[in-house]
Amino acid sequence: MPIYALGEHEPTIHPDAYVHPDAVVIGNVHLAAESSVWPTAVLRGDSGGIWVGERTNVQDGTIVHCTEWHPTRIGPDSAVGHNAHIEGATIGTGCLVASGSVLLNGSVLEDGSVLGAGAVMSFDGHLPARRMALGVPARVRENHEVAPELVAAIVANYVARIAPYKAGLRRLS
Ligand SMILES: CC(C)(COP(=O)(O)OP(=O)(O)OC[C@H]1O[C@@H](n2cnc3c(N)ncnc32)[C@H](O)[C@@H]1OP(=O)(O)O)[C@@H](O)C(=O)NCCC(=O)NCCS
Repeated sequence: MPIYALGEHEPTIHPDAYVHPDAVVIGNVHLAAESSVWPTAVLRGDSGGIWVGERTNVQDGTIVHCTEWHPTRIGPDSAVGHNAHIEGATIGTGCLVASGSVLLNGSVLEDGSVLGAGAVMSFDGHLPARRMALGVPARVRENHEVAPELVAAIVANYVARIAPYKAGLRRLS
């Protein structure tokens, strides 16, 4: 499993977290209990740091980075879909960063909010609690409040995958 220390910075991975063997975790990265990181995701904590909360998943192909001025913090019970890019952002509890979306430095998703598939939230963008933003650049969807079940279902689904992957994943070639 490519998990690297960088100088004095070594990832901390809770024993109940799961990192797929084809994910890459470097440096100042901290994964809480029952969080999960899926194939080809890259979490590169080479300046600032990256924190992933309890039960939060970071799905395949996603890139998480940070800067000295902008660490990346992803709260508990959140989901990060496939091929997202998170750079120096703060993400609250119970959020969804959907597939292919981009969050740039200084952007903030408050608790229960959703950045829709393919959306781009630019520098210092802000999404209030339980709101959804869509498009490029991301715009908050009017008259719409996110149902918490939307994210909770994805989170539960990924937590449930941890045990079978820990017990049954076998590399064949
Ligand atoms: C954001 C999201 C939840 C919206 O779903 P929804 O509320 O069911 O939205 P609807 O399909 O009812 O569409 C509502 C409107 O938003 C538009 N819309 C929906 N998703 C959009 C998106 N990602 N970007 C831009 N517009 C979008 C629709 O075209 C529609 O527009 P209209 O009212 O003008 O016709 C969905 O697009 C999404 O991103 N899902 C996340 C999937 C994912 O990444 N899962 C992680 C892997 S498990």
